[in-house]
Amino acid sequence: MLKKTANTYGVVAKGFHWLLFLMLTFSIVMGNFLASMPKGAEKLEAAGMHKSFGAVLLTLILLRLIWKLVNETPRLPDETTAGEAFVAKAMHWGLYLLMFAQPLSGIMMSQAAGVPVSFFGLFEFPVFLAKNPELAQFFKGMHGTVWILLVVAVIGHAGAALHHHFIRKDNVLKQMTTGV
Ligand code: HEM
Ligand code: HEM
Repeated sequence: MLKKTANTYGVVAKGFHWLLFLMLTFSIVMGNFLASMPKGAEKLEAAGMHKSFGAVLLTLILLRLIWKLVNETPRLPDETTAGEAFVAKAMHWGLYLLMFAQPLSGIMMSQAAGVPVSFFGLFEFPVFLAKNPELAQFFKGMHGTVWILLVVAVIGHAGAALHHHFIRKDNVLKQMTTGV
């Protein structure tokens, strides 16, 4: 099933979910490696790769959000309380907020530092922030914090998914994996 139904996420939503899981994990590892490198030509090259990869991620996150908005969302198990449904929804939107904030803060950090962001050397993104070292520092702090919040949120999110599967023994994890 390509599209989502009331009972499961479709192939596209599952594809986005697990591809972004892998790509976000890779980008967080790559970013930390980058931050630990000494200044120099090698760091500049690695930063270029990290930024272009981040731009691809931002595009995928946007496409995923559009797909979510134009599709049905599978329903929660019948025994879900109103409070649980609210927490689940808030958590999903919180994850989107963090997924967007990470690449956007990266782009704004670079632009405020006066460094244009190029896409694998093919073209440069339009500059929408003037050079401003204080602002660059602010976005650098944000870029160094949001990913930690994302990791904490994802641990809670994955924990909830596993709790549903192994303790409550319901359909929630299957909706994002093998469920059709
Ligand atoms: C979802 C996509 C992204 C993820 C998950 C990510 C993740 C990270 C992480 C974890 C760090 C290390 C932060 C630290 O501890 O200080 C980092 C550093 C960095 N990121 Fe990203 N990033 C993403 C996108 C971007 C984008 C789009 C840009 C710019 C256009 C960017 C620019 C940078 C730069 C310049 C650094 C190095 C900062 C330093 O030298 O300390 N990132 N990134
Ligand atoms: C970078 C890591 C992750 C992010 C950002 C993330 C984000 C999300 C988001 C936003 C949703 C809502 C559906 C949608 O809009 O596509 C979702 C659903 C789901 N995720 Fe994740 N996820 C991550 C990792 C994981 C992991 C590791 C697991 C499993 C152990 C998992 C299991 C699930 C399940 C079962 C659902 C369906 C929940 C439901 O229908 O209520 N996710 N995820």
